[in-house]
Amino acid sequence: SFLTKFVDALPLPSVIQPVGYRDGIPFYEVTMKQVRQKLHRDLPPTTVWGYNGMYPGPTFEVLRNQPIFVKWENELPFEHLLPVDRTVHGAEPSEPSVRTVVHLHGGRVRPENDGYPEAWFTRNFKNFGTKFLHEVYYYPNCQRPTTLWYHDHAIGITRLNVYAGLAGFYLIRDKKEEKLNLPRGKYEIPLVIQDRSFYPNGELFYPSQPGHQPPPAQQPPPPIFPAPEPPPPFDESALPNPSVVPEFFGNTALVNGKVWPYLEVEPRKYRFRILNGSNARFYRLRLSSGQDFIQIGTDGGFLEKPVKVSNATGLLLAPGERADVIVDFSKHRGQKIILTNDAPAPFPNGSPDSPPLPQIMEFRVRKKRSKSDKSQIPKKLSCLERLEPNGVTVRQNFLMEIDDPEFPARLKLLLNGMEWNELPITETPYNGTVEVWELYNLTGDTHPIHLHLVQFQILNREPITVDENGNIAIVGPAREPDPNERGWKDIVRANPEEVTRIIARFGPFTGIYPWHCHILEHEDHEMMRPYEVLQNPN
Ligand code: C2O
Ligand code: CU
Repeated sequence: SFLTKFVDALPLPSVIQPVGYRDGIPFYEVTMKQVRQKLHRDLPPTTVWGYNGMYPGPTFEVLRNQPIFVKWENELPFEHLLPVDRTVHGAEPSEPSVRTVVHLHGGRVRPENDGYPEAWFTRNFKNFGTKFLHEVYYYPNCQRPTTLWYHDHAIGITRLNVYAGLAGFYLIRDKKEEKLNLPRGKYEIPLVIQDRSFYPNGELFYPSQPGHQPPPAQQPPPPIFPAPEPPPPFDESALPNPSVVPEFFGNTALVNGKVWPYLEVEPRKYRFRILNGSNARFYRLRLSSGQDFIQIGTDGGFLEKPVKVSNATGLLLAPGERADVIVDFSKHRGQKIILTNDAPAPFPNGSPDSPPLPQIMEFRVRKKRSKSDKSQIPKKLSCLERLEPNGVTVRQNFLMEIDDPEFPARLKLLLNGMEWNELPITETPYNGTVEVWELYNLTGDTHPIHLHLVQFQILNREPITVDENGNIAIVGPAREPDPNERGWKDIVRANPEEVTRIIARFGPFTGIYPWHCHILEHEDHEMMRPYEVLQNPN
């Protein structure tokens, strides 16, 4: 029972409507529910967790500067769908198995509405975490129009809650955007790419220990000679069961909650808002037609001008990153075009143990348009304020790995050698001030580093070396960010053997926010730290 590709149409998550108004502000209600959902023609329905019972969740469409309220509710079962490692911070046996809290990723919101990992709550608010404050969240939407997403952020089980389905789009629009005359309506499509694995009965597979293999999703490739060395047998007793795994890689690609879907398109321009919603997998996307993407936006909204992302380079997206792109199908009438991926997993060095995921979805280009394509790719998209690094505070941050002192058979990734709960809070920018954060990556993987509250700019990346005593040398030369990274970002790829420099103006709110690696297995296993925006003394 292998899954045939491109037999299900791409679903479009529905747009959520407010249930009413409070003080003249639209009021939404979203309830997390366990449901069974058909993810592929040949797969029995899969148990998933969905916002309002939908995986992915409904899409929010809001206008800039028009605030909304959302009441997030939990009607999930008391027992988790997936294996919970009780040795991970915040998921100890004393804590409820199923805890949820919603984070608006990229949203500029006060700390009490940000979805702090300890602000979780259980079914019907029966239990709640130490940072839980209220049931109704306020989103001011005072920020540039862009593609945000909302997802679960509960301490110690974020990887499992998001994997179970708790994620959705949140689009901020404004009047100026309308004037750009980009493809819109049915020609503007959000695409969330996620990898999953399944049991033959349709249920989600998530490993309970490293090396725990899912049943294959595709016909196994013909044997290659000489046969690769099998990995050494894994000593299960060296780790708790279940144990958090270093990184999850699924053997099946889903877009908008369907396995390897297809989308019928007209021979014209489309706007795709692509989100990598996977736990750990990076994607380097290409179109099999050989055509380029025209990227118009990043995590934090429009670029200054459209950037060609050529088919030779591919469009690289780490977990949590978004790319707003235009694809023109007008020269490809009647063709079938595959969206492909060749990013190694883990990124960038790969491992023979992780399944590749070379195909994502298919575009079927019709022969005819239903009407002529009046949309445009404007020469200029927006104005970007450039943050100036001269004279600002520079913070050095180190991404590092250690053996888990409790279970030496597994690694632990840390920011600045500290765990999530360790005091003091070391990153304490003043409200309204600009800082440069340097990210020295001393590990072998690229880590997508995400800061809550702010959008930042990437200054550069520069090679580093580390000698046997641990002394770090910057060896240069510094590289400019990629052309499609020269906009506002809330995630940056920090590559191994490099220091990555970002610059942000912290604020406009004070308080404590997380910053972390967006590989969810890393985030859950201590690669997350709080930072505090302090009131400015001046
Ligand atoms: Cu998208 Cu702190 O997360
Ligand atoms: Cu990481």
